[in-house]
Amino acid sequence: MHNIERIDAVAQDRMLPAEELAGLLGSFTDEELEYASSLARAVAQRVFGKKVYLRGIVEFTNYCRNNCLYCGIRRDNKNACRYRLSQEETLTCCRDGYAAGFRTFVLQGGEDPWYSDERMCEIVSAIRAEFPDCAITLSLGERSEESYRRLKQAGADRYLLRHETADAAHYALLHPAEQTLQNRMDCLHTLRALGYQVGCGCMVGSPFQTPLHLAKDLLFMAEFRPHMIGLGPFIPHHDTPFRDEAAGTVRQSLMLLALCRLMLPEVLLPATTALGTLDPIGRERGILAGANVIMPNLSPVSVRKKYMLYDNKLFSGDDPETCRRALEQRVASIGYQVVMGRGDHPAFAADARKGN
Ligand code: 5AD
Repeated sequence: MHNIERIDAVAQDRMLPAEELAGLLGSFTDEELEYASSLARAVAQRVFGKKVYLRGIVEFTNYCRNNCLYCGIRRDNKNACRYRLSQEETLTCCRDGYAAGFRTFVLQGGEDPWYSDERMCEIVSAIRAEFPDCAITLSLGERSEESYRRLKQAGADRYLLRHETADAAHYALLHPAEQTLQNRMDCLHTLRALGYQVGCGCMVGSPFQTPLHLAKDLLFMAEFRPHMIGLGPFIPHHDTPFRDEAAGTVRQSLMLLALCRLMLPEVLLPATTALGTLDPIGRERGILAGANVIMPNLSPVSVRKKYMLYDNKLFSGDDPETCRRALEQRVASIGYQVVMGRGDHPAFAADARKGN
């Protein structure tokens, strides 16, 4: 099969076997990438218009009990300068974000046991009470079903938990033995059953990854049907075991974004910070390949350089308002428009209109 036929098959909802997807992801021309991108952005425009949703991320802790081999805030990185934001500091970030128009707050952190269910629920409840018109997204890693339930009860709407790779053997090469793909997948299914809008996703070009692994990621996502997909290139961090590994590529990330959009027309798909880190206009290119979300940083400027998952992470010292304006301009430069609403997944937005 030729790549154009493969791309057409995905666009027409004819799912390809893993080998065919791997063939496409293993090698494609710039013209083939542009073909996939143009189909993907047509789909995104049909579902969402030429609109890009902004989500404000608050990186509230960089303590982590995990030891993922790729990640700059892994527990064994003794050079990481650790911090935690207090509830009040976190709320201040949301307040500043709200004033600048943000209506989704993403609380992201390492797996930090200091944020027990009790403490975390208190933070979520406080945000929920003060900002009833905003969506609250959590990205706190693996927790118990009970924990996820309580956080939902406290007012969380969405949860991001990248599966990282859908291949168990590959997963085991990226993580220590105490972390398993099975547990990740169990968490994702639990989150969905609890009524969260759920995001999964993976790194592109992570060490040991083959095109067949990426094909498996796509097939997993086609079956799981997440509401959100987080997908960006792997970038090495100098204080991790993967310091000498090659980074993923922008073009392969763009091809994956395009295929995700074609497979799941309604998915909320960020043009990630990692993409913007490897290419100064990476996020714009992501939008032109079907992405429809950008997630700027609302963390206090004093901690932004400490949440370093990989080297050279795109940094801006901008306040939320300046940040929004800058992104509005960037997005306008490619003919798109920033929208500041909650930006729920269409299935959930319909629920909201029905009053559920
Ligand atoms: N390069 C790119 N992405 C990374 N992440 C963690 N470390 C890196 C890295 N070195 C991603 C993981 C995680 C998300 C929060 O950040 O996919 O799920």
